[in-house]
Amino acid sequence: MPAAYILGIESSCDETAAAVVRSGEQVISNVVASQIATHQPYGGVVPELASREHLRAIVPVVRQALAEAKHTYSSVDAIAVTQGPGLAGALMVGISYAKALAFALDKPLIAVNHLEGHIHAVLLDLRENDLRQNDMRQNLDLPDKKERQKRNHELQFPVLALVVSGGHTHLYLAEQKGESWTYENVGHTRDDAAGEAFDKVAKLLGLGYPGGPIIDRLAQHGDPRAVKFPPAQIKHRDRRLGAPAGTASALGSDADRPRFDFSYSGIKTAVLRYVETHHMQAAIELRRKALANIHKPSLEDYLAHGDPQTLNLIASFQHAIVEDLAARTLAAAQAFDVATLFVTGGVAANSELRRTFERNASSEGLAVYFPSLRLATDNAAMIAAAAYPKFLAKDFAAMDFSAEAGMRL
Ligand code: KG4
Ligand code: ZN
Repeated sequence: MPAAYILGIESSCDETAAAVVRSGEQVISNVVASQIATHQPYGGVVPELASREHLRAIVPVVRQALAEAKHTYSSVDAIAVTQGPGLAGALMVGISYAKALAFALDKPLIAVNHLEGHIHAVLLDLRENDLRQNDMRQNLDLPDKKERQKRNHELQFPVLALVVSGGHTHLYLAEQKGESWTYENVGHTRDDAAGEAFDKVAKLLGLGYPGGPIIDRLAQHGDPRAVKFPPAQIKHRDRRLGAPAGTASALGSDADRPRFDFSYSGIKTAVLRYVETHHMQAAIELRRKALANIHKPSLEDYLAHGDPQTLNLIASFQHAIVEDLAARTLAAAQAFDVATLFVTGGVAANSELRRTFERNASSEGLAVYFPSLRLATDNAAMIAAAAYPKFLAKDFAAMDFSAEAGMRL
């Protein structure tokens, strides 16, 4: 089978991204244009602005991805694009452009679920690491490509994948049958996604947007045991129980499966209550104003405007979320008797989360894999990677497919 080069396009939220990936395993180029500066003044993504920024960026970003890969529009074998979930207007920009390219170039078009992309980002890095090790092996005259492919297929299935980002907190059991992948959702958040909680708490504490990376760095300067948060309680009825026929939870075989759901709006409210009862609002307002006047604040700037009480609160908040994510995921791993964990999505960039999963998984004899930092947050290489099995199966999209803001996997 000759190598296949897929151009991936991603525009589901606040990143316009394009990438060229070879045969689903090697990132040739990976360009991400972030809109953080646009949304920062509003403390969150403004959908209208996101669509406008995608329109502005899509053509140059795709051009750059092709140029960096030393490819042309006509030399790629297929075009893959995120169909959903995400912001409808933002998704439409990527989809319309991908359709136009596929039509004009007469290339196959592949529609990809963003969540499946996050799962395949892990695989990309596994394969990339193998490629790098392979290069070294070749220099040392050790086993080569065949060995690599064998090792790729040695991943033990089913894999339990935690997709944890700004919009999602989902657990999937993933199976590989031949080249194609199937997914069963075995857990999801009942309210806020974990990344959303990071972003909302950062906003509440006057730290700006996006909150995850800032909290990650500041938490290292606080005491994670200073504030105790009660464990998340999952009380109300699952929205998914009313799911239409054909979706995961409506399938009869799913009825008896244990579920491992999450909830992160309670901890956000607990932080707010802590702020109120400890009279922290005035200091927060001062911090908000001071940081707004600094272009791209550094860690030192944040620390200069962060008192010990705030740093302890941040560290305790992060610790509680990470422990909860790890405990629920490991409980699911045990219940479904899996040997391999994938942890992916923007929050998988968190340093405490990586340490905790590595420690807890290894003590239970589980293998845990993360994407590299650049592939944990939104990018298009993951979209091109997830498209490869569909390319092999000739699972192409019809020209009239549409964005699906609430798309499920
Ligand atoms: O995957 P992603 O780029 O977009 C979505 O699909 O949502 O994830 C973005 C989310 C944001 O909520 C951001 O705050 C969070 O990932 N994030 C982090 C870190 N880096 C990004 N959360 C915690 N620690 C980080 N280091
Ligand atoms: Zn994402």
